[in-house]
Amino acid sequence: MTAKFADEGAAVPLRLVPADGVEAATAVLPPVAAAWAGAHGFAGKAGERLVLPGEDGNPALALIGTGDAASRARTRFAAGAAIAALPKGRYAIEDWPQDRAEAEEIGLGYLFARYRFDTYRKQSEPGAELVAPPDADMAARLARIATSEYLTRRLIDTPAADMGPDALEQAARDLADAYGAGIEVTTGEELLEANLPMIHAVGRAAATPPRLIELTWTGAADGPTLTLVGKGVCFDTGGLNLKPGASMALMKKDMGGAANVLGLARSIMDAGLKVRLRVLIPAVENSVSGSSFRPGDILTARNGMTVEINNTDAEGRLVLADALSLAVETPPDLLVSMATLTGAARVAVGPDIAPFLTDDEALAASLATAGRQVADPVWRLPFHTPYEPMIEPGIADLDNAPKGGMAGAITAALFLRRFTADHPSYLHFDIFAWSQSNAPGRPKGGLGQGGRALLEALPEVLWKT
Ligand code: BES
Ligand code: ZN
Ligand code: ZN
Repeated sequence: MTAKFADEGAAVPLRLVPADGVEAATAVLPPVAAAWAGAHGFAGKAGERLVLPGEDGNPALALIGTGDAASRARTRFAAGAAIAALPKGRYAIEDWPQDRAEAEEIGLGYLFARYRFDTYRKQSEPGAELVAPPDADMAARLARIATSEYLTRRLIDTPAADMGPDALEQAARDLADAYGAGIEVTTGEELLEANLPMIHAVGRAAATPPRLIELTWTGAADGPTLTLVGKGVCFDTGGLNLKPGASMALMKKDMGGAANVLGLARSIMDAGLKVRLRVLIPAVENSVSGSSFRPGDILTARNGMTVEINNTDAEGRLVLADALSLAVETPPDLLVSMATLTGAARVAVGPDIAPFLTDDEALAASLATAGRQVADPVWRLPFHTPYEPMIEPGIADLDNAPKGGMAGAITAALFLRRFTADHPSYLHFDIFAWSQSNAPGRPKGGLGQGGRALLEALPEVLWKT
């Protein structure tokens, strides 16, 4: 499914009306239309929508409320999503906001709201179509970002029975084919020969063999190097430390990190960014069988560190550890991991904000600014080195599940950092990757988080521009 704006052509004009602009907006309307707006109590609230009839009774003008600063601060994408919910027809915004962030939020809100997950049940067709903004570059960028978001959402929304490690591999292959990228996959017992022992240990109990997916793409032979690592746990039962039913229910989304890095990779390749891109996805199912890894087992990671398993449900950091070790054997300029790694991250910042950790101050600053620019809220958590002892249990180098659960998102990230060979520009996102209820532009289901902020920050981060 691709996201797109409508072509130019006969369209109902659409006026954006802020809460304090209702009087001015109605004053210029023909009396019938002004009366109609008054009778409907149109107040320019964020996301309010009203179609005004012309003399022949057909739609003559659409009003979309953009609210006031306070209400805009409370909700993202309200105006754009309201456009998508207008009656069937084509609409054209008369005056796109001059401010880039405002205009993009409207365009993205519209495109995001048109996402439908219709694999298993036909969904309502999006009826309203919005003519592209006059800035063709902006229109193309927004369509690109939204199509990548659709990919991310679809991968997450697809249940584990149809999105196992094999299907995730196929999705990566399809993406590689579409953009002429290279792809290599190491599967099952090959993981042991390739020295990826923890990916094997976590995934070996499942019916579908574990694998490491590697996608490579060159936008410019001398470009900066970027490696994205995504947690691809296609279903997380918790393993022998089985999750209770309520906690397991949503665990098809535990490949949300992989879905996010694939979406980001799509945007990078589609935009033709002059980078050398490498994507690593450990794809496994954390399952239960006679071959499950066990609490108390001590695993030896790719980089030689030993890890005491204190909870088989802390599996994401194990598969990521091997992928990160491999990543830094060819150190990229920027190393990123994205993962639905801990419940603690969600407790800390809730489902709406993507927490990130990095020791690179400039990168952190760029990301924070970029997140605001593109309405992709991110917030920094500290790589608090004094917590290192919490991941050091005694009889192995590391503990995968510190007792007590204090600072769970930080200790998980510190664990990952141990496998990055002190890479100076390592960035880790601990995302939720899920919209819990229908919100503007974010229907209940899979969700991209952090990737848009990172895409926006990339030029500054990689080229210091
Ligand atoms: N996939 C989960 C983390 C998760 C849970 C993310 C719910 C988003 C929502 C992860 O594998 C996990 O279970 N982590 C444990 C770690 C603990 C055992 C140290 C957690 O966070 O409880
Ligand atoms: Zn788990
Ligand atoms: Zn998990």
